[in-house]
Amino acid sequence: MKKILLLGSGELGKEFVISAKRMGCYVVACDSYAGAPAMQVADEFCVFSMLDETALRAAIAQHQPDLIVPEIEAIRTEVLLQVEQEGFEVIPSARAANLTMNRDRIRDVAVGLGVRTAKFSYADTAAELLIKATEIGFPVVIKPVMSSSGKGQSVAKTAADIATCWDYACAGMRGDRQKVIVEEFIHFDFEITLLTIRQRNGQTLFCEPIGHVQERGDYQYSWQPQPMQAHYLKAAQDMAEKVTTDLGGAGLFGVEFFVTANEVIFSELSPRPHDTGMVTLISQNLSEFDLHARAILGLPIPQIDCTEGASAVVLATQDGKDPQYSGIEAALSEPGVDVRIFGKPTTRPYRRMAVALAKGPNALPRAREAAAKISVLV
Ligand SMILES: Nc1ncnc2c1ncn2[C@@H]1O[C@H](COP(=O)(O)OP(=O)(O)O)[C@@H](O)[C@H]1O
Ligand SMILES: [Mg+2]
Repeated sequence: MKKILLLGSGELGKEFVISAKRMGCYVVACDSYAGAPAMQVADEFCVFSMLDETALRAAIAQHQPDLIVPEIEAIRTEVLLQVEQEGFEVIPSARAANLTMNRDRIRDVAVGLGVRTAKFSYADTAAELLIKATEIGFPVVIKPVMSSSGKGQSVAKTAADIATCWDYACAGMRGDRQKVIVEEFIHFDFEITLLTIRQRNGQTLFCEPIGHVQERGDYQYSWQPQPMQAHYLKAAQDMAEKVTTDLGGAGLFGVEFFVTANEVIFSELSPRPHDTGMVTLISQNLSEFDLHARAILGLPIPQIDCTEGASAVVLATQDGKDPQYSGIEAALSEPGVDVRIFGKPTTRPYRRMAVALAKGPNALPRAREAAAKISVLV
């Protein structure tokens, strides 16, 4: 039986634990607060900040896991690099976790591999940001190099916005590096997540592309398959294969692309299941969590089937604790609809608390209708 130390215990971790437990694993779920979703289904749990070097080292030493599986970005990844040297296995690799924690590092890797990205530059001060943004041409997107879920991210339409964008980025920054990436604004037709699976034995596999819509830096709804031209899909798969091969290791990656009228542009990647991929809980025979578990355990993945499916998030509206949910019966009374309640102990405005899933024709409007029926009560 493999022992897994899961770093981060949110809703994605919870589904991963369920998949791993079905394959007979023993899972220790870690996060900075007790009662986190994945802890509710794991064998053991451990509460500490993943950014705390001493605590992270101690948890690894105490539990002696066969596999260390990061679920979030905000981890003291230097520790992962060290323990990998000592013989622990980090999924997919310590280097992947370390590079993707920093937007600039993974972007530099992609560019080094000849992968097409938006025009971009970096800035350490507001003055430098203005120069770089002017060079790229407005509008530009500004993001802290260390942040996730859209934190600190904004769009500058003109030079007059730069000071506000800089301050907003500094406020949303994680870690000790005051640095932003400034990017050309891409007027995409749609954006996709291409779930890419690196196997221990066997070729790299791809799921059908997932289309999604983002608001305030978080995904609101996603659907699969997102129709796209065959040569664009091939271009995305080639880029995904290049970058994930460079990162190495086994596991599932969420690779994000923008698709315009003329081309496919690489955006970023997560070396772990992706939130927009929750749709695969209903659209695929093996969800992204099942696929991650199989890939890291070296189990075969002979076929990935996909039917039309969609997911839509249910958000909290205010601060509170021990939330109750109304409208679940109404949502579930529709055929082909399912719901996942994450079981988070506290709420805050816009916190993702549950997801509605639908499959079959018109899956997207039906998932959104189902999500709209559910309210989070505190
Ligand atoms: N250069 C860009 N042009 C247009 N939209 C962008 C650009 N960069 C990001 N976005 C939008 O913001 C969302 C979040 O940005 P992303 O870089 O994926 O950050 P995060 O790590 O927070 O997910 C994207 O999914 C996309 O909708
Ligand atoms: Mg993203």
